[in-house]
Amino acid sequence: MSTTEIPVVASEDDRAAFRAGPVDEQSQQRLAANGLAYRRVPVDSDAFGPWLQSVARGFQDSERSDEHIASARERSSYRRVTGVYDPAAPVSEAPVGTIASWIGELTVPGGALIPSCAITAVTVAPTHRRRGIARAMLEGELRSAHAAGVPMAMLTVSESTLYGRYGFAPAAASATWRIETRRAGWIGPVPEGRIDFIPRQRFRELGPALHERARRRFAGEIDVPPGHWDNFAGTSPVAEKAGEKRAVQYTDASGEVRGLAVYAVHENHDDFTKAKVSVHYVLAETDDAYAALWRFLLELDLVAEVSAHELSVEEPLWWMIADQRAATITMRDHQYVRILDLVAALETRRFGAAGRLLLDVSDPLGFADGAFVLEVDADGVGRVTPVERDAAPDDAVVVRLGITELSAVYLGGVSLATLHRAGRVVTDDPVAAARVFSWHTPPRLSFWY
Ligand SMILES: CC(C)(COP(=O)(O)OP(=O)(O)OC[C@H]1O[C@@H](n2cnc3c(N)ncnc32)[C@H](O)[C@@H]1OP(=O)(O)O)[C@@H](O)C(=O)NCCC(=O)NCCS
Repeated sequence: MSTTEIPVVASEDDRAAFRAGPVDEQSQQRLAANGLAYRRVPVDSDAFGPWLQSVARGFQDSERSDEHIASARERSSYRRVTGVYDPAAPVSEAPVGTIASWIGELTVPGGALIPSCAITAVTVAPTHRRRGIARAMLEGELRSAHAAGVPMAMLTVSESTLYGRYGFAPAAASATWRIETRRAGWIGPVPEGRIDFIPRQRFRELGPALHERARRRFAGEIDVPPGHWDNFAGTSPVAEKAGEKRAVQYTDASGEVRGLAVYAVHENHDDFTKAKVSVHYVLAETDDAYAALWRFLLELDLVAEVSAHELSVEEPLWWMIADQRAATITMRDHQYVRILDLVAALETRRFGAAGRLLLDVSDPLGFADGAFVLEVDADGVGRVTPVERDAAPDDAVVVRLGITELSAVYLGGVSLATLHRAGRVVTDDPVAAARVFSWHTPPRLSFWY
């Protein structure tokens, strides 16, 4: 499938209108009542540099050079950038609150894409913390996205405790692997194609189109913002330690490039047979490419350990090594999603089993509050009908839950039965409800944004 055959669910016009759209009035008024100004920051304006410095400071990072700012400006044109300003501060052009967002595309169970508001760069200056600035910005972006007709929102987080209160849930967990390579023992397939080294720039050129073809295989993946490819490949002019990155490609027997990987080797000067490899990115369009790239990485000479981040919680790799205890795997929350338009969200994904559920959903922000009948047919296609709260059809399984819990099960990686056992969902038939929301492949997200 070529990239042009993939339906563009978030059109460039929609994205541009959202980027240029106003800030949310309700949050603007709330902040103004506290003497603060909430406004958009055009990426090509002078206000962008101070905004970026505030983001860096907010993440306890160092001051940005002019070169960094120029590079970030060039790579930020896809973002809607917003700041909160304190006119009474001595450096009033530096915002005390920052947030950025854009309309991306989220893959859902079944391989469809749904427009989703990606949120990033959320910081509040330590001088202004815990006064409700982050809440005003988050609620503001969610209202703006909802008003623009965007059915989902999503983000990755620095701390797990921040976003549940706005209805976000960690719907795709990620796994970090540390593999003792000499112990692992490759027992997976040995594909016919070939692995070759390529310049990092070549990875940068091939990555976007390959990812466009690969991302529909996994719920949770999103379209990669263009600047991220430079981060993966180390091809940005301000990239640090770019020279340590090595790139390889997998070409299948018919001569098509089906996979890419970037990794770095860290020598062990005390014992040259015990180098460590950090895998920065493995991108595989086919199972062959996946097997060939991982085999290559696990069989590198002079390497004792390979580590990789942002893997799925259920990698086929686990079944491709002879000794599963050669891998130490840790899991954590990664891709957070938040349903804004319940009908659009549920009708876009496919479900694991037929059934009829009455979803009684509470949403403190009001976007998806109410009762909905979800009717799923034998093909896993769902139809949603809003109903009165006490008007459940007799044969529907009643499920009462918050928008955070519904968002948690949306990508099919969290079982509704587990949330029921955790006391977070009320239903008489957790098994039937869980079967409907299940999916055969766990969701994943292979990077941070
Ligand atoms: C996290 C951060 C943005 C919070 O900003 P803030 O303006 O202090 O947050 P608010 O005052 O609006 O607080 C909103 C709510 O979040 C809670 N909260 C804020 N920071 C929290 C934290 N670190 N852990 C747990 N709860 C937190 C508040 O208690 C408040 O709860 P409530 O409204 O439900 O009662 C800010 O501390 C920050 O910039 N941290 C460093 C950068 C960072 O990690 N950003 C997040 C990137 S994903």
